Amino acid sequence: MNAYSQPAGVTARDLLDVERIRRDFPILHQEINGYPLAYLDNAASYQRPRSVLDAIRHYYEHDHANVHRGVHALSHRATEAQEAGREAARRFLNAAERAEIIFTRGATEAINLVAYTLRETLQPGDEILISHMEHHSNIVPWQLACQRTGARLRVVPITRSGELRLDEFHRLLNRRTRLVAMAHVSNALGTVNPVAEITAAAHALGIPVLLDGAQAVAHQKVDVQGLGCDFYAFSGHKMCGPTGIGVLYGRREWLERLPPFQGGGDMILSVSFDHTEYNELPYKFEAGTPDVAGAVGLGAAIAYLEQVGMDRIAQHEAALLEQATRAIAALPGVQLIGEAQEKAGVLSFNIEGIHPHDLGTVLDHQGVAIRAGHHCAMPVMDFFGVGGTARASFAFYNTRREVDQLVAAVEVARRMLA
Ligand SMILES: Cc1ncc(COP(=O)(O)O)c(C=O)c1O
Repeated sequence: MNAYSQPAGVTARDLLDVERIRRDFPILHQEINGYPLAYLDNAASYQRPRSVLDAIRHYYEHDHANVHRGVHALSHRATEAQEAGREAARRFLNAAERAEIIFTRGATEAINLVAYTLRETLQPGDEILISHMEHHSNIVPWQLACQRTGARLRVVPITRSGELRLDEFHRLLNRRTRLVAMAHVSNALGTVNPVAEITAAAHALGIPVLLDGAQAVAHQKVDVQGLGCDFYAFSGHKMCGPTGIGVLYGRREWLERLPPFQGGGDMILSVSFDHTEYNELPYKFEAGTPDVAGAVGLGAAIAYLEQVGMDRIAQHEAALLEQATRAIAALPGVQLIGEAQEKAGVLSFNIEGIHPHDLGTVLDHQGVAIRAGHHCAMPVMDFFGVGGTARASFAFYNTRREVDQLVAAVEVARRMLA
C-alpha cells in the first residue's frame, strides 16, 4: 500500500452518517446570502472531500515529476501515483485489466476519442444509434463523424415520462448500425436506462456499445464486465474528483482495433520520419504529459466513494429524490420533466409563468444552488416543449434539511414571481 492507495477517513462500518460525511467537505460549510449553502447542483459538478484535496497536495509537495521517461526517484513515484489512480479506476468499473483504462480530460473527450478513431472505419450508409435524451457531448461528436463519412445518425425516441422507447430501439437497431452510444443516466431527466438489455440486443447483432456514464458512476455501482459494454466514459469532477481528468474504459479487443487519437510523446515505441510504432495499451491513446495530479485525485475520490459504499449512496439519494419529488410536485403550477420508473437523483421541473433562470436566481438568494437552463440537452427540452428547466441534483452528502430548504425557497420564489 502506498500513499495513493490509502483509504479515506470514512470507515466501512459507518452507516450513511451524512453529518459526519459533510465534515469531510470543507466547501459545504459556508453561508450564501445569509443562508446555509444547500449545494444541489451535483449533476453539473460534485464537491471534493478533504482526502482528495490532500492527495493532490501530497503529490505536488512530495512526488511530482514527469512520468515514464525519468530514471530518477521522483519520476518513478509520479509514475506509480498515476498508475495507482488507473488501478483504482479499473477496480471501480470492474474492468478486466488496467490497460483498458484510458485517461482523458473527461467524459466529453472520452466520447470524442471513440468518435474520431471509429470514424476512419465508417462509410456512407453506416448508422450510429443514439437516443433523444443524450447530452450534447454524446450527440455532436457523432454528428461530426457522420458529416465527415456519410454515415447516418439515428435517434431512439423517448416517452413523455422520459423513458427510452425500447420498442423503437429494437426497431432501429439493424445490420447497418456500427455503434450504439447511450447515456447510462440522463443528466436532464435522471432516467436510468436499461443498459444491460441495450448491450445484449446490440451484441446479438455484433454491434459495439458505448455508454456515457458521466451521471451514473457517482450514484450506483458500475460493472463494465457485468454490463458487457465495449466503451464506458465518465468525468472525475462528477464523482468527487478533480476537473480535467476522466476515463474511457474500452475492451482490449476494441482498443487494439482502433487507431491512435492524438500523436505525440508517450504514445509511441519508436519514431522515424518514415514510420512510427505505437505504444501498447493504454499509452497508445495518451499522447503528451498526462494529468498526473488528476489521476491521483481521481484515485482518492474513488477510494472515498468506495468507503462510503455505492449501495448506501444509491439508497440515500433515492430517499432524497423521493422527498423532493413529493414536495415539489405538490406545489401549484409545477410541471415535472422526467418521471421515469428508474431514476437517479435528478429533479427537473418548471413552474408555470416563471422562467427557470429567475427561479434559480431567487433560490440562490436563499442559499440554494441549482441549475437552470437546457442542461446541454437541447433536444430533450425541444421534446418537452420548454426552453429549459430548473434542476436540483442530489449527492450522498446532501441532507433532508437541504431538501426542505429547497422546497421552502421554491415556494418563496413561486409567491414572488408567479
Ligand atoms: C450525461 C453527460 N454526459 C457527458 C457530460 C460531459 O461531461 P464533461 O463536461 O465533464 O466532459 C455530462 C456533463 O454534464 C453529462 O451530464
